[in-house]
Amino acid sequence: MLSMAPRVSFVVFALSLLLGIASAIDVYREMGFSYSGTDGPNNWGKLDPTFSPCSVGKRQSPIDIRKNLTVHNKQLKSLSRVYKPVNATLVNKGYSVGVRFEESAGDLWIDGKSYKLKQIHWHLPSEHRIDGQEFAAELHMVHLAPDNSTAVVAVLYQEANAADPFICKLMGAINKLGKENSEVPLGTLSINELNRKSSKYYKYVGSLTTPPCTEDIKWSILGKVMSISKEQIAAMDSPLNSNCKRNARPCQPLNGREVDLYDELSC
Ligand SMILES: *[C@@H]1O[C@H](CO)[C@@H](O)[C@H](O)[C@H]1NC(C)=O
Ligand SMILES: *[C@@H]1O[C@H](CO)[C@@H](O)[C@H](O)[C@H]1NC(C)=O
Ligand SMILES: *[C@@H]1O[C@H](CO)[C@@H](O)[C@H](O)[C@H]1NC(C)=O
Repeated sequence: MLSMAPRVSFVVFALSLLLGIASAIDVYREMGFSYSGTDGPNNWGKLDPTFSPCSVGKRQSPIDIRKNLTVHNKQLKSLSRVYKPVNATLVNKGYSVGVRFEESAGDLWIDGKSYKLKQIHWHLPSEHRIDGQEFAAELHMVHLAPDNSTAVVAVLYQEANAADPFICKLMGAINKLGKENSEVPLGTLSINELNRKSSKYYKYVGSLTTPPCTEDIKWSILGKVMSISKEQIAAMDSPLNSNCKRNARPCQPLNGREVDLYDELSC
């Protein structure tokens, strides 16, 4: 989710230091993370002081949602979202493939507050689990409020013969996408498919699932699991850095947090 790109080579970093052109950004980039080895999830908190929530945070994401332990909260309302066609760019961050919206893509309202859709990206396999079950993929729709508070809506996919219609629209661009930091302009992209009404979702407070693992993120995980084809998974996996092929952070302890359930079909 969000944040900085994975590592650039140490040689480039050292050279830029020598040349005295190591901007704060370069230093930040050198603190890159991956999904395996010494810069893998277990060590994220040690890679940079600003990443410390990854190791010391008590309200981290993702989590394994135990259905038995969710609280059916009658106060919750159906997720209110209005998205619109928007100029967009497909981006390969190296650690995930996603879409950046170049202009206002619409809003999500949670607890009376409005959050603007900024970017979406996929994790392969899923990060959140339900009763221990891992899914083939997970979409994160990242929304920001004017005060920078963040709300993420997540969609789980299971592998099936049926392709996901929204990813279908991106397949041509995904197949053109190069290595880390490459981009493919998408022009005006209709994102109706992301607007789907959900009769069921899980809600809890957690963190970004990539460094700096910032907390106080409002998570809504939709109950309806979508389908994704083998071909779509392979296409989204292909441009990722080799140490980010399984870009799912392991589940984090709940530490007493409550997971609420909105389910309009149950009484
Ligand atoms: C959920 O609760 C029921 C009844 O208490 C129990 O039989 C079942 O094993 C529980 N399931 C899980 C996944 O914990
Ligand atoms: C879409 O956004 C890109 C990046 O900002 C820009 O270069 C391009 O001109 C925009 N296209 C349209 C149709 O606005
Ligand atoms: C939100 O984040 C942006 C970019 O990091 C920053 O420029 C801005 O000052 C922040 N706004 C608030 C209210 O914190």
